[in-house]
Amino acid sequence: MNINYTNLAENSRNNIGNHELALAVLEGLSGKPKKLNSSFFYDQKGSDLFQQITELDEYYLTGCEFNILTKEKENIAKKLAKDPFNLIELGSGDGRKTFVLLDEFINQTLDFKYIPIDISKDAMETLFSKLKNNYDENLIVEGLVGDYFDGIRTLVKQTKRKNFVLFLGSSIGNFNHAEAEKFLRQLWYVLNPGDYVLIGFDLKKDLNILHSAYNDTKGVTSEFNLNLLSRLNETLDADFDRSSFMHQGVYNVQLGAMESYIISTKKQAVKIGDLDKEFTFKPWEGIHTEYSYKYTQSEIEMLAKDTGYTVINHLFDSKRYFIDSVWEVCKND
Ligand SMILES: C[S@@+](CC[C@H](N)C(=O)[O-])C[C@H]1O[C@@H](n2cnc3c(N)ncnc32)[C@H](O)[C@@H]1O
Repeated sequence: MNINYTNLAENSRNNIGNHELALAVLEGLSGKPKKLNSSFFYDQKGSDLFQQITELDEYYLTGCEFNILTKEKENIAKKLAKDPFNLIELGSGDGRKTFVLLDEFINQTLDFKYIPIDISKDAMETLFSKLKNNYDENLIVEGLVGDYFDGIRTLVKQTKRKNFVLFLGSSIGNFNHAEAEKFLRQLWYVLNPGDYVLIGFDLKKDLNILHSAYNDTKGVTSEFNLNLLSRLNETLDADFDRSSFMHQGVYNVQLGAMESYIISTKKQAVKIGDLDKEFTFKPWEGIHTEYSYKYTQSEIEMLAKDTGYTVINHLFDSKRYFIDSVWEVCKND
């Protein structure tokens, strides 16, 4: 198998290792309200925990997307069969759902190259070991470890092959609406007219279903959220006592988003050794760790229109909980 990945952080002047995390933590915990970016969840433990979340019954999102891709794989392959193309996946994680498409594309002998992009080196290594176990020399993989934006920027240098961009798992929901617009426009700038994107949107629905999905009974989501504190203890010499923090997922009706918090259950101070700084927490004060914005079909259509795309198709799962929306890049010149 022709398979390799480039670590954009190691190759760039921005490679400041844990300093980047320390600076983000300094900014996030000094602000009011306190917050930490969800992209820091995915160390090896965090990536493993996320995979366990995707297997929970309550976390319906993964099952819905498996359902869609399994139903639609032949149609998707047909649409791409004419020209050689790049299958670019943003935030690929363990790539499990993408394997449905890889299998179909290989069976139909499509001429394509798989380009997974993920900020987590651990997630990329897990993906690569799975690819090595499942595929032979027919698959060409050129992974990029780095931020979506850095990954997208390097794609400008790619050849003029047709691009099919996957952004699965409702990761678009981690952005607020303004950030989503900026992100999609940035993507639009580097893509060519006629390229396709397929974006997974979680739909607005009964709040009880949403609440259960982000507060599962086995406590895996709680472990995933609190693992961020363990990561800071390990990498930044912090002394968070995890037992005096708790996880909570809540729906913000005004924003239309699930929000994840790590909440301090008492008044306490936490030292972050690498910053040589102490942060104080009031009882029940929260650290905001993630947004998961939910959409309606018309909000998705508006987003596509506002950022330069034409909606080709909305692919629904059988419960109609989720949409994989397929868009084509439109440019007038
Ligand atoms: C919610 S998981 C989704 C994984 C997979 N796409 C799925 O649908 O199951 C998000 C993935 O995106 C990656 N990620 C998060 N923020 C990122 C960023 N800013 N740039 C690149 N990858 C990012 C994480 O490391 C993680 O593997």
